[in-house]
Amino acid sequence: MRAYNLDFTSGLFLAPLSGYTSWPMRMLCREYGAELAYTEMISAAGLTRNTMNTAKILHRPACDTPLIAQIFSASPEEASLAARMIEDQGFAGIDINMGCPVKKIVSRGAGSALMTDPERACAMAEAVVKSVKLPVSVKMRSGWDTSTLNAVELAQAFEKIGVDILILHPRTRADMYRGSPRWEVLREMKQTVGLPVVASGDIRTASDLAALSELGADAFMVGRGAVGRPWIFRELSGGPAATLAERKETILRHLDMLCSLLGKTRGVRHMRKFISSYVKGLHGASHFRPLACTIDDPEQLKKSICEYFAGVEALDPDSEPSPADPGE
Ligand SMILES: Cc1cc2nc3c(=O)[nH]c(=O)nc-3n(C[C@H](O)[C@H](O)[C@H](O)COP(=O)(O)O)c2cc1C
Repeated sequence: MRAYNLDFTSGLFLAPLSGYTSWPMRMLCREYGAELAYTEMISAAGLTRNTMNTAKILHRPACDTPLIAQIFSASPEEASLAARMIEDQGFAGIDINMGCPVKKIVSRGAGSALMTDPERACAMAEAVVKSVKLPVSVKMRSGWDTSTLNAVELAQAFEKIGVDILILHPRTRADMYRGSPRWEVLREMKQTVGLPVVASGDIRTASDLAALSELGADAFMVGRGAVGRPWIFRELSGGPAATLAERKETILRHLDMLCSLLGKTRGVRHMRKFISSYVKGLHGASHFRPLACTIDDPEQLKKSICEYFAGVEALDPDSEPSPADPGE
């Protein structure tokens, strides 16, 4: 599959997950086979005003590539200005967020709120496409609610405007993250639009990939399934599950990278979001989790992780975790 001027073999991408997919998680997922990653959504307003948080989101190691910068905005002018600023920062493309369902974002007219205003959504896509030479994608939902399922119509308009690739998480804004994705919308989109379409939503297993390929998906985005399970990309490519030793090494490296990104105290605290998923399905996880979440010192936490894994191995050296869903 070709998109963003790049060729992909597996078409397995890491989804943007605000609060999770900073460069440490991106790097680990790439090591296990993610072919492309996206930044967490970046405020175009924050970018154009050069606020500190946005600069931090853009910061990354040189090997965190290829990377797509995702922006959110309510204003076509602001989005185009932000896109021009991003163009010089080494990204492979720019994605426009038209799917975020969070109140704080939609109340400003951004994220999935754009789908309720197709004229402004198209004006934004056009403004960004015209302002940069980089390929542009749009990530959207199936619509605002079941009475306004307009993703296919919008996709047709985006194709005419010159958008390079579409990403579809086919729940409505009203669905938030509940229920099953409306995959029939993907099928219809592929029947009526010539652009590649990336499927996003509840992808966890090789049979999910097979079913979505059947419907016409060109690539696959994994979000929550990769939290505390970066090896899901290897599993989805037909590779083996992670061994206990790999799990332990991955957790320790994730912690190190988060401390280098955020500093020791914030790094350890941020790691708490991942620990529960990292140990899910292992012996004694329910005792280890609360203990690990009281530790503020990285060296102490590493020691505790090593002791925990030594205990798991001693209990049952042959045990390997079952594939688990980390949930939200
Ligand atoms: C905590 C969280 C943060 C998210 N942040 C973003 C984001 O910044 N940009 C975006 O386009 N989608 C975001 N999403 C949506 C995901 O990219 C993805 O489309 C959705 O979670 C469905 O895929 P999954 O089941 O693989 O997680 C977020 C989802 C979650 C749960």
